Amino acid sequence: MSNFSSVLVTGGCGFIGANFIRYLFDETDFRGKIINIDCLTYSGNPENLSDIVTKYSDRYVFEKLDIINYQEVCRVVETNKVDLIVHFAAESHVDRSIHGPGEFVQTNIVGTFSLLEVVRKLHAEGKKIRFHHVSTDEVFGSLGETGKFLETTPYDPRSPYSASKASSDMLVRAYSHTYGIDITISNCSNNYGPYQFPEKLLPLMICNMLSGKNLPVYGDGKNIRDWLYVRDHCEAVWMIANKGKSGQTYNVGGENEWTNIDLLNSLCEISAELLKKPRDTFKKLIVYVPDRPGHDRRYAIDCEKIKKELGWKQSVTFAEGLRKTVEWYHNNLTWIEHVKSGEYKSWLEKNYGERK
Ligand code: NAD
Ligand code: DAU
Repeated sequence: MSNFSSVLVTGGCGFIGANFIRYLFDETDFRGKIINIDCLTYSGNPENLSDIVTKYSDRYVFEKLDIINYQEVCRVVETNKVDLIVHFAAESHVDRSIHGPGEFVQTNIVGTFSLLEVVRKLHAEGKKIRFHHVSTDEVFGSLGETGKFLETTPYDPRSPYSASKASSDMLVRAYSHTYGIDITISNCSNNYGPYQFPEKLLPLMICNMLSGKNLPVYGDGKNIRDWLYVRDHCEAVWMIANKGKSGQTYNVGGENEWTNIDLLNSLCEISAELLKKPRDTFKKLIVYVPDRPGHDRRYAIDCEKIKKELGWKQSVTFAEGLRKTVEWYHNNLTWIEHVKSGEYKSWLEKNYGERK
């Protein structure tokens, strides 16, 4: 049984946040209320939850809100008697952080600071509230051919994105240590699955295959990522929020390392098979392009702590997860069209107005 009755999710219209809200409603015994605050940046899409809005209308509330808006966040938290905040909202794409780091500093650092101030205020008033901060393995930097990131690995962020996430992790830890607020942190590896914005490797490649575009591989294609199906990440976050020790950090990963080029070749084969095309149809679209500046070579997560202490484990195999993911995009062409065509943007303006 869950400890919580009212959960505030930040960034619930994004990829992992939307999957987390779905997971809580559909796959757990949680019977409380979920309040989703999201200011709907380019990657925030309320369509990701359109069925949830009707299916759980008595237990789901959406507020279009920037996490940086301290007064409004206080109002939402107090009105709904929130006892858990799960903080996903962020600028999340490394390439974008290279082109424009400002928004990453603003949302990921200042936005997280603002949420922590809300929690500090409530804590000082004697209210019981837990803050779970969702972070990334990228804070640990880049690995050589061997070794894995442990919770104790020193931070060594190398992109504006990972530096902003590392800063936010540090603020969360400092608030726990200094003010005694109840926090937990997770550092997770690369997620994949439905509803991921098609700027990230997997959905970008699947969408490019569908429209016959090139498949751009950065550098030599030998960079390694550790892939985890998004549903398993959501389960880990929920377990940590409910059973994790206050003040603790937990690594979460797939134990599933792939070079980008091997992964892309598999993806090409699955897509060809599902679309009943010759096996090498999509491989012909692969092109090598100039590398991402400062491109981290290898990530790999040691997740023994969450396995031993909380009993979490991955439940979706990579073969199963990849196939499900490709099928989802093939079956959701309208979603892709909305996200890519800009129609989604005007839909946003019509339905939600300007960013508050
Ligand atoms: P995403 O870009 O798909 O979603 C981010 C969401 O946050 C969007 O809905 C966006 O509108 C919202 N948002 C952005 N700025 C906001 C603000 N100022 N106020 C309110 N809402 C705002 O990102 P994602 O891939 O779902 O990542 C979610 C979290 O998980 C991030 O904190 C990211 O660092 C972390 N993470 C992601 C991965 C991954 O592989 N995608 C892995 C580990 C950790
Ligand atoms: O490790 C967790 C992180 O994973 C999260 O914190 C980030 O939010 C998430 O975006 C992701 O970061 P990456 O940089 O690893 O993901 P991305 O999908 O952008 O790239 C994955 C790998 O594929 C990386 O080595 C770069 C490469 N790549 C990416 C794109 C978009 C290409 O070769 N070509 C591409 O077009």
